[in-house]
Amino acid sequence: MRISEEIWPRPVAILTTISKEGRPNGMTVSFLMPISFEPKYVAVSVSPRRFSFQNLNEVREFGLNILEKSQRKLAEIFGTLSGREEDKFKIAGVKPIKSEAIRPPLIECPISLECEVVFMEEFGDHYLVIGKVLKEHVRKEEFEPLLHKSGDFFPEIKV
Ligand SMILES: Cc1cc2nc3c(=O)[nH]c(=O)nc-3n(C[C@H](O)[C@H](O)[C@H](O)COP(=O)(O)O)c2cc1C
Repeated sequence: MRISEEIWPRPVAILTTISKEGRPNGMTVSFLMPISFEPKYVAVSVSPRRFSFQNLNEVREFGLNILEKSQRKLAEIFGTLSGREEDKFKIAGVKPIKSEAIRPPLIECPISLECEVVFMEEFGDHYLVIGKVLKEHVRKEEFEPLLHKSGDFFPEIKV
């Protein structure tokens, strides 16, 4: 059994990054957790095979865009295609939103966090990436989060 099938449901976010040349990308993540109230820190786990991993090494900042249930299609597009070959924003019909404290853009969703990478280290087949939240955008306080188990299974759980 995969660990993702043992610990679930997990909220889903799009991690937005940018290359040093300024080309933005986004990838879906569900290996994520809050780790500190004040200051706010979040952790995500990113495979080194992701194009986003390369961006994180080049520009150590990211946006964490928490998705709601109705945004499943976005999670699928940003979580199956790679920014190596595709402009996922264009394919998804999503307009990148300019951030205030970081270079990567944000995505329209209930909550976006602008983060600076403060720690990035290999753990097994992923890298643990810890971000300090520099700026937050709470566009909706009440929403139904999109939840993930594994692969293409997004459990329909009412919260
Ligand atoms: C719902 C969902 C959750 C995912 N969670 C993660 C994750 O937490 N960490 C990770 O490395 N990849 C995760 N992935 C896979 C990446 O999103 C996927 O490989 C993506 O295409 C990488 O894009 P990139 O090459 O443009 O960076 C997830 C995919 C989906 C569909």
